Amino acid sequence: MEKEFQKIWLEAVVYLRQAQKKDFVLHTKWVVKSMEMLLEREGGDRRVLITAAILHDTGWSEVPLELQAAIEGEMAGRALVLHLKNSVPIARKILKDHGFTKKEINKIIDIILSHKFKNPRNLEKRLLIDADTLSDIFKEPFYADAKYYKKTPKQLLEFRKQNHFYTKTARAVFDRELEKRAKEITG
Ligand SMILES: [Fe+2]
Ligand SMILES: [Fe+2]
Repeated sequence: MEKEFQKIWLEAVVYLRQAQKKDFVLHTKWVVKSMEMLLEREGGDRRVLITAAILHDTGWSEVPLELQAAIEGEMAGRALVLHLKNSVPIARKILKDHGFTKKEINKIIDIILSHKFKNPRNLEKRLLIDADTLSDIFKEPFYADAKYYKKTPKQLLEFRKQNHFYTKTARAVFDRELEKRAKEITG
C-alpha cells in the first residue's frame, strides 16, 4: 500500500480488529487489492476509492456481538444497517485527522453508506460494491470465511457463484478465481 494510505490503514485496523463477525483485517486487505484491480481498468478517483475501501467496514467494530453472530434473518439485517451507520463518525474522525477536505470526506462517506441495500448508478459507488463482493473469492479470504461461517468450501463456493457484479472487470477476475477455487475443491 502506498505511503499516502498507510496512515489511514493503521487507524482503520484498530477498529477492524475489534469486530468479531469475521477477520475484517484480512477482508479489508482484499477489498483494497480488489479495488486496485478495478481502478486500473474502470477508472475512478484513486484517493477517494482506496480510502473508502479501507474504511468501509470499520463500523462493524461497534455492532453488538449478538447481532454480529446472526447469519441471516432480522438480526443480521439490523447488524448490516448498524455497520453502515457506525462507520460514519469513525470515518469522519480519521479523515479529518489526516487532512481530507470536507468535500472529500462527504464523498467518501456517501460511497461507504452505499455499499449495502443500494443499487447506485454512480460508478464509484458501484466500484466499492464490486470490490467488496470480488474480495471474497480470493484464496485467503475464501477459506477464512468458510471457517467463520462454518460452511464447507463446496457450500461456500455454491453460495459465492450467485454473486452479481456491475463491472466487466470484476466479473472477469471473479470468474477466473472461481475456477481456481473449484479446482482446489474438486482436486
Ligand atoms: Fe460492509
Ligand atoms: Fe466489506
